[in-house]
Amino acid sequence: MTQADGYLLDNQQSEAGQRFDAFANLFDPTTFRHFEAFGLGAGWRCWEVGAGGTSVVSWLAGKVGPTGQVVATDIDTSLLAAAAHAPVEVRTHDVGAEEPPGEGFDLVHARLVLVHVPDRERALRSMIKALRPGGRLLIEDADPALQPLTCPYEYGPEQQLANRLRQGFRKLLAERGADLSYGRRLPRLLREAGLHQVEAEAYFPVASPACTALETATVRQIRDRLVTAGLATDEDIDRHLANVATGSMDLATAPMISAWGRKA
Ligand SMILES: C[S@@+](CC[C@H](N)C(=O)[O-])C[C@H]1O[C@@H](n2cnc3c(N)ncnc32)[C@H](O)[C@@H]1O
Repeated sequence: MTQADGYLLDNQQSEAGQRFDAFANLFDPTTFRHFEAFGLGAGWRCWEVGAGGTSVVSWLAGKVGPTGQVVATDIDTSLLAAAAHAPVEVRTHDVGAEEPPGEGFDLVHARLVLVHVPDRERALRSMIKALRPGGRLLIEDADPALQPLTCPYEYGPEQQLANRLRQGFRKLLAERGADLSYGRRLPRLLREAGLHQVEAEAYFPVASPACTALETATVRQIRDRLVTAGLATDEDIDRHLANVATGSMDLATAPMISAWGRKA
């Protein structure tokens, strides 16, 4: 699979790095809290699936130390190069189509990845297969259908426009095969896959500077597609970007559902 026929948001566009920085600001604290609760520490072997940028991988590397291992995979590793030194190994890998890059992992994690993978079932099976008995799986995925609005408080034309453009973005994602209510399915999927001690929770910011950065980078990245599909005009997009730049729009993200469990 290439970026062109699968993942909508190409890592090689300049906005991709800004989006990964925003994900790190918004979601790393939640992700790291889960890792800490698992007891992650020196010597752990981890597989970071669809790693995107370096923030999670570098944090894991610091925790597992020289006796551990962090295998960071993505279909596009262009923004991972800076982290590619021991204990981190970077590999180009399609989680929905290839065998896992190793086995016996203590931790396998994928954040905001599975929703984009056409063969999500296979990807999940592969991640579980790669765990050691007792190993931990943490899957974090958005559920945009649970909270579809950029501006949950739609009090003026600026917020209405923001919500209309978000609807267009969701349409583009759905046309590419993204499952926009995937997040809520995770606990059941993990349980049915035989994992034990399955739990899940949701998190989303309602107003934060990182949401402004994420919205700006995302809309810039997809503007041509929105316009070509007739979902927005260039004027709509310019107006929205100017509204967002004021920093006073109170922009939210979709809820991110974190679900975790242990292999028997
Ligand atoms: C929304 S980004 C999330 C990046 C990172 N996990 C984070 O939370 O910041 C999705 C990432 O998944 C990668 N991806 C998409 N489809 C994939 C696949 N089939 N196999 C592996 N990675 C994939 C993309 O290249 C991109 O880096």
